[in-house]
Amino acid sequence: MQGFLTSFQLRTRQALSTWQTGNHYEMLAEMRKIALLILVDCLFGADFTPYLQSLWHSILRTLAYISPGLWLIFPDLPRFGYQAAIAKVDGYLFSLIQHRRTHPIAGDDLLSLLIAAGLDDRLIRDQLLTMLIAGHDTSTALLAWALYCLGKSPDHLEKVAAEVRAVPLENPFSLDDLKSFTTLEWVLQETLRLYPPIHAGNRLTNRAISFNGFTIPAHQRVIYSIYLTQRHPDFWQSPNQFMPERFLQRPAAWTYLPFGGGERICIGYLFAQIEAKAVLATLLREWQVQLLPQRVSLHMGATLEPRPGVRMKVTQIAR
Ligand code: HEM
Repeated sequence: MQGFLTSFQLRTRQALSTWQTGNHYEMLAEMRKIALLILVDCLFGADFTPYLQSLWHSILRTLAYISPGLWLIFPDLPRFGYQAAIAKVDGYLFSLIQHRRTHPIAGDDLLSLLIAAGLDDRLIRDQLLTMLIAGHDTSTALLAWALYCLGKSPDHLEKVAAEVRAVPLENPFSLDDLKSFTTLEWVLQETLRLYPPIHAGNRLTNRAISFNGFTIPAHQRVIYSIYLTQRHPDFWQSPNQFMPERFLQRPAAWTYLPFGGGERICIGYLFAQIEAKAVLATLLREWQVQLLPQRVSLHMGATLEPRPGVRMKVTQIAR
């Protein structure tokens, strides 16, 4: 995590270096830039900067391709308008693999490990694509929602800002610093409760089970709602309210599962939580943010994301 932590902060500052004080920015897009730079840096050992612009549209189309739609019910339905975008993302991944085969780097990034494991290009591409999508779109949504929640709750914004600004600007955040940011931690947990980027999960039953008076036969796909579970009035007081301090107490087992659970729990759950903390701490230490008046709705895309986005005014803190 130490190497990743450096990247989380450097990549955040890199993306924010284009910000100008007093301007308005849409945070879903801004957080996506940061999440993409981080993911490719940490997992593929590469710099995504030259591709941020050229692959932007293709990545959004690839996300639209896997978003819920009629194809879930009619999987054979022809789907037009996505192939060129997917081919462009594939082109990037295959060239990354080719380049690494011919120019190995000393490192234990995922791409180098997959090549060393002897996988063929096609399989490596599959792994990279999964990681690229699962590892950046979720963090993008979490960061954008967290800024939205903070914008709506000035008290919490002030507390988090005070926490992170207590660390002098010239000191990079350490893992211990991040651990000490209790309010930030609660804010992120509460954001994940109200707006879980992955709002539903699924499992196959390996035997028949009884649940709430229903019998579910063996070998059925069961879909469960993370969103509804985390807002269930039987388990959560004032379930629709943003109340980060509720995380002073540990939630009851299986009432809170933004990263799923059991053997198939999100492989990136630690990475994602430290990343979100480091990105927000880096941002809020240097910038004041203010939510602009707007209507934000929940959109069920590849992840649950704020639509049309989260517009904020940013002001750089005088040094
Ligand atoms: C806020 C960020 C994230 C959220 C909310 C999230 C959520 C989830 C959820 C709910 C699952 C399904 C788990 C289950 O079925 O029990 C999952 C699986 C997965 N996630 Fe994440 N995730 C996040 C970040 C990441 C990151 C950063 C990576 C990669 C570095 C990642 C990679 C994966 C992969 C590969 C799986 C499939 C794991 C498997 O089937 O074994 N996720 N994630």
